[in-house]
Amino acid sequence: MASSSFNSSYVVSQGDLAKKKIYPTLWWLFRDNLLPQSTMFFGYARSKLTIELLRAKCEPYMKVKPGEEERHEEFWRLNHYAAGSYESDEDFAELDRQLVRLEANAPRVNRLFYLALPPSVFEPVTVHLQRTCMAQNGWTRIIIEKPFGRDAASSQKLSDHLAGLFREEQIYRIDHYLGKEMVQNLMTLRFGNRIFSPTWNRDNIASVQISFKEDFGTQGRGGYFDEFGIIRDVMQNHLLQILSLVAMEKPASCHPDDIRNEKVKVLKCIRPLQLDDVVLGQYVGDPEASDPEARLGYLDDATVPAGSNTPTFAMAVLKINNERWDGVPFLLRCGKALNERKAEVRIQYQDVSGDIFDGKGKRNELVIRVQPGEALYIKMMTKSPGITFDMEETELDLTYCSRYKGLKLPDAYERLILDVFCGSQMHFVRSDELSEAWRIFTPLLHQIETEDIRPTPYKYGSRGPKEANEMAKRNNFVFYGTYTWVRPQH
Ligand code: BG6
Repeated sequence: MASSSFNSSYVVSQGDLAKKKIYPTLWWLFRDNLLPQSTMFFGYARSKLTIELLRAKCEPYMKVKPGEEERHEEFWRLNHYAAGSYESDEDFAELDRQLVRLEANAPRVNRLFYLALPPSVFEPVTVHLQRTCMAQNGWTRIIIEKPFGRDAASSQKLSDHLAGLFREEQIYRIDHYLGKEMVQNLMTLRFGNRIFSPTWNRDNIASVQISFKEDFGTQGRGGYFDEFGIIRDVMQNHLLQILSLVAMEKPASCHPDDIRNEKVKVLKCIRPLQLDDVVLGQYVGDPEASDPEARLGYLDDATVPAGSNTPTFAMAVLKINNERWDGVPFLLRCGKALNERKAEVRIQYQDVSGDIFDGKGKRNELVIRVQPGEALYIKMMTKSPGITFDMEETELDLTYCSRYKGLKLPDAYERLILDVFCGSQMHFVRSDELSEAWRIFTPLLHQIETEDIRPTPYKYGSRGPKEANEMAKRNNFVFYGTYTWVRPQH
């Protein structure tokens, strides 16, 4: 990373994401000497704050360890803050004057704007930044967070707006799942191993299930969640991104645009979802639960509008109409208030043809465990050890905490923010990927809203609506329930 340049990282907003994620991440990167030298941090939001107040808000999330206090002080000495409106040209001109004062004497200055902002102010802020705050002698990049619109039309409007102000190379759309270790590993796993590629197709794979499960509900944030629902919150972005990495063809190189070209290509082979392709659920309280939180359903959250039909669970079956995947169901499953917290990709292979074991064999599965506890394992059959000739299920296991002792993996945000400093867009969403994603989901989302489609209730802490299991079964995913992978302990 170039260290001769003078860099400024400007955090716009002082909201929830800023205090919980952005400031702590900048601190960790700074602590580990990963940021370019001479980076300064500038907060800008409506609230009148001092650095001390800002620091106090962030403090619970910074995780400062003994011995790091001096470095931490140094971090805060490089922080500045200004309050201003999101609408006023003059306030942004003043922001620019303050930045210029701080940057004085630097031969080259880059500016990075992190727009952790409510969607309603996104347009005026980007216009003002473009008009008044661009780096005069160095690069300017902006990081943006979802929601990138609510449907195809609103997302296109936002993309057009941004394209009128910035070049695509300047725009970094974050999908933080692309910063996770095992999601990034998909490329290496698929294209760096001879063993997987010949079987990675419809001739060998029966179905693919990509799951995201959380064991907690909306926790009082239902008002916010209700505007989006689980499809927009998780499926249309995080799960579809994973799907595109699992299913795309090998890119011409590891260049970000070669990779994103392949992701777009595979998304283009998916037709828009219809109501019959999904199971929707909404959690209700479990009156017998010992945890008081679990006794409350989604609609009991005071911030959720009465009678809301917003799904908190969804399973969708996507089909990829190309030569590799024709007929292979891709099941995307996500939900809140389920029985466990986990995110994983499960590639289920077909039955062995010409069985000689009286149907005792179970299908192979390759499981990529994204979280918690990064792991990769292959479920397979083996002869039961010993004198018998029976067979049993076992696994070939690459569990990170066993294989890489003492490993500390960076947080997704650490990698992604660092990528922006380095100018790598490999793990960021390009505008054409985004519009393909919306193309697939928009008709369904509109139908759910206009026809007031009611989700199926499921109990807090359960595996979700049973209709989802039935849908998985119909789509060539076999759940045996005979085997549980036991996560090795550290
Ligand atoms: C966010 C969603 O994008 O991802 C949240 O808006 C969800 O609803 C979160 O809880 C999950 O992220 P992680 O990294 O904890 O799996």
